[in-house]
Formats: sequence, structure tokens, C-alpha cells
Amino acid sequence: MKIAIGSDHAGFELKEQIKVFLSARGTLWQDFGADSEDTVDYPDTAFPLAEAVVRGEFDLGILVCGTGIGMSISANKVRGIRAALCLTPEMAAMARRHNDANILALGGRILSPKAAMEISETWLSTAFEGDRHARRVGKIRSYEEKGGNG
Ligand code: RB5
Repeated sequence: MKIAIGSDHAGFELKEQIKVFLSARGTLWQDFGADSEDTVDYPDTAFPLAEAVVRGEFDLGILVCGTGIGMSISANKVRGIRAALCLTPEMAAMARRHNDANILALGGRILSPKAAMEISETWLSTAFEGDRHARRVGKIRSYEEKGGNG
């Protein structure tokens, strides 16, 4: 499994910790920045990372900003992305099982490192259930393929 991971300045520290966690579990990753805690704009990381996930260059993506909100809003603008902002392992499990979320958004200023790792582990190790959920995700895909509301 190969993961695309990125952050802005507010998510930098947690991103670095998640990279250590991913390596420890034998999961490959590629870092899309930020490279420091110097101020950057979260869409500048979210869009290229999300596009790389949609191109199939990665299995899944993880994006971290201060709250996870800006990253999730940005990533969800990219056709084919289903980014889920998760605050608990239960949300992470459902984001995979029911929503087939292909990007996990986390809040570096919201979550403790321990909570973030529990959420990440649950998200990475949970599979999509398909069935009726595939029909629902398929409706999102159809809407996107028709050009959405634009
Ligand atoms: C940066 O100050 C902060 O706005 C950003 O990291 C994120 O929380 C936005 O949603």
C-alpha cells in the first residue's frame, strides 16, 4: 500500500508523526509537503495530492491542516475524491466501510497524536463494504461525471 501524505504549516508536526507511524507499519508514503512550519496555503498541497490519488498513483491519501476542514473542502473539489474529516476511529471506520473515502483529513490542532494514529490505523485497515453503499457512491460518481452543478 502506498499513501500520499501532505499538510500545511498547522498540520506539519502531525504529518511528520504520521510518516513515522506509517513507516513503522510497513506502509510506503510520499510527502507532498509542507516542508516546515512556515505559513503555506492548504489548497496548494491538497489539489496536487488529490489529483495524484485520482490518477491511481497512490492507494489512499492523508491530508492534515489545523482543523482538517480546509483540506477536506479542497480535496473534495477534485473529481473522484471522497475526502473524510474524521475525529474518531468510529468515523474513520465508517468513512471506509460506507463511503469508500480515498482521502483522510485530520486536524493537527484538534487531535492528540495518539488519537490521530488510532484514527489513521482504523482508516487504513478498514475495507469498503460495497453492496448498497456502492450504489450510493456510484450516484456521487455519476453526478461528478455529468459535471456536477457547473
Ligand atoms: C491555518 O491557520 C488554518 O486555517 C488551516 O490549517 C486549516 O485549519 C484550515 O482549515
